[in-house]
Amino acid sequence: MTEHIKTGGGELNFEELAAARRSVRRYSHAVVPEEVMRSALRSAHLAPSSNNLQPWEFHWVRPNSAQREAAVEACLSQPAAATSAELVFFIGRPDLCARRAAALQSHYESEQNEGTAAYYRDQVGPNVAAMESAKRSAWVDKSVALAAAQFMLAIQAAGFDSCPMEGLDPNKVRALLSLPAEATVTMAISVGQGIPEGLYGPRYRFPLDDHLTEH
Ligand SMILES: Cc1cc2nc3c(=O)[nH]c(=O)nc-3n(C[C@H](O)[C@H](O)[C@H](O)COP(=O)(O)O)c2cc1C
Repeated sequence: MTEHIKTGGGELNFEELAAARRSVRRYSHAVVPEEVMRSALRSAHLAPSSNNLQPWEFHWVRPNSAQREAAVEACLSQPAAATSAELVFFIGRPDLCARRAAALQSHYESEQNEGTAAYYRDQVGPNVAAMESAKRSAWVDKSVALAAAQFMLAIQAAGFDSCPMEGLDPNKVRALLSLPAEATVTMAISVGQGIPEGLYGPRYRFPLDDHLTEH
């Protein structure tokens, strides 16, 4: 597991860090320091998003939370959730996009940046309002997934392990976190110190050449 990961002091270059991240389904009882979580959440928050609408919410169900047990159940009690030290739900808020576009318009107005303010008023706002609901949800999920990826790499950089999970009951998650029906439950991510049994096999990827086309 993470024995082979050299952490701290930037000893891994980015490609090594990306290679070290695996989806880990079983964790030890080790605690994840609060600052590791806060730092990874700050990194997630720096992810790019379409029109900078930042359509995400991170719902961190802390280890002693009254919601912890129900959160694990909402993740279908899969081992990656049940044995984790920490759980974060990455949620998309298509229902808040119009409000975020208006807030960005106000922000740029307050900065006397009329060009960007007009862009949010005349283009982003109407575009969000006109978008068909399913399309808006898919659009939001893209940005939320980037935040989730950034979070997992930050966790890896700190020497801990993670597992993304879409094996969950979104309705249970929405009820547990008091979210509206429109909220997308993009994925949950568990965090902890992985144990060797938590790796279900060697990594397998198709050859990069199968996925890469150079033009
Ligand atoms: C959106 C998404 C959802 C996933 N859901 C689950 C899940 O519910 N349970 C699980 O054990 N792994 C889940 N995975 C992990 C994948 O199975 C894993 O990323 C893939 O097998 C590649 O392995 P690696 O992450 O170790 O490279 C999910 C991954 C992604 C990106």
